[in-house]
Amino acid sequence: MATVRAAGLNKVYGEGPAAVVALDHVDLSVEKGEFVAIMGPSGSGKSTLLAILGGLETPSDGSITIDDANLSDQNETRLAEMRREKIGFIFQSFNLVPVLTAEENVAVPLLLAGRRAAEIRPRVERMLGLVGLADRRTHTPAELSGGQQQRVAIARALVTEPALVLADEPTGNLDSKTSNEILTLLRRSCDELGQTMIVITHDAGVAAWADRVLYLRDGSIAAAERQQGPLAARIHAIRTRLEEVAAHA
Ligand SMILES: Nc1ncnc2c1ncn2[C@@H]1O[C@H](COP(=O)(O)OP(=O)(O)O)[C@@H](O)[C@H]1O
Ligand SMILES: [Mg+2]
Repeated sequence: MATVRAAGLNKVYGEGPAAVVALDHVDLSVEKGEFVAIMGPSGSGKSTLLAILGGLETPSDGSITIDDANLSDQNETRLAEMRREKIGFIFQSFNLVPVLTAEENVAVPLLLAGRRAAEIRPRVERMLGLVGLADRRTHTPAELSGGQQQRVAIARALVTEPALVLADEPTGNLDSKTSNEILTLLRRSCDELGQTMIVITHDAGVAAWADRVLYLRDGSIAAAERQQGPLAARIHAIRTRLEEVAAHA
């Protein structure tokens, strides 16, 4: 389980007249076991925020702590170690290894973590079963559809049961049925393992699974709301809030 705290995050890309402010004084606190969705228009800083929270990018200003570790105090080796031990990333672009099969891709984080072969095989099989790809174990990414590749990437991110899961549009390439299955899986994984989940999405139906929704606009948090009630009511509330946030842009 992981607690994430960010204070005064700024991120500026480039310099002088070409400078782009991607994040503008973001404060954020996510508790252990909490599922947070991040929404907002394209270019509002969602991917930048996620990359900074996961230690993949450094902020221009501000601090991030994951549990007791301040990310800016860690050297590259230690950061890489933290990512490997604690964090599961799911990217929009899958980032699968093209020459490896589905099961080999999912096994990679376990191999890197030094797990024993006897443990790896059943874990990988179980994970591929959970994402509905038991019958695609030996296929390479090129032999899989976009949605199937994304499910392999999700299995790879969850197989080590990381304390923190960071996902950038995890269902961007999936149809609504598969998308719902994946969200059920993420939600169950969060509830059963006490994982902390931070998920970027455009889709109110995806965000509705979260405990809390943050709305970014122009690099700042424009609104934040805890969610209650059944999914349908949540979806309605999210759509309403999204329209309000867009109207103030
Ligand atoms: N590597 C980069 N170099 C320069 N500008 C960037 C870079 N990455 C993102 N940006 C800019 O920062 C802003 C926020 O981008 P991003 O975090 O990708 O937004 P989102 O994920 O919400 O669409 C955008 O204006 C984008 O063009
Ligand atoms: Mg993005």
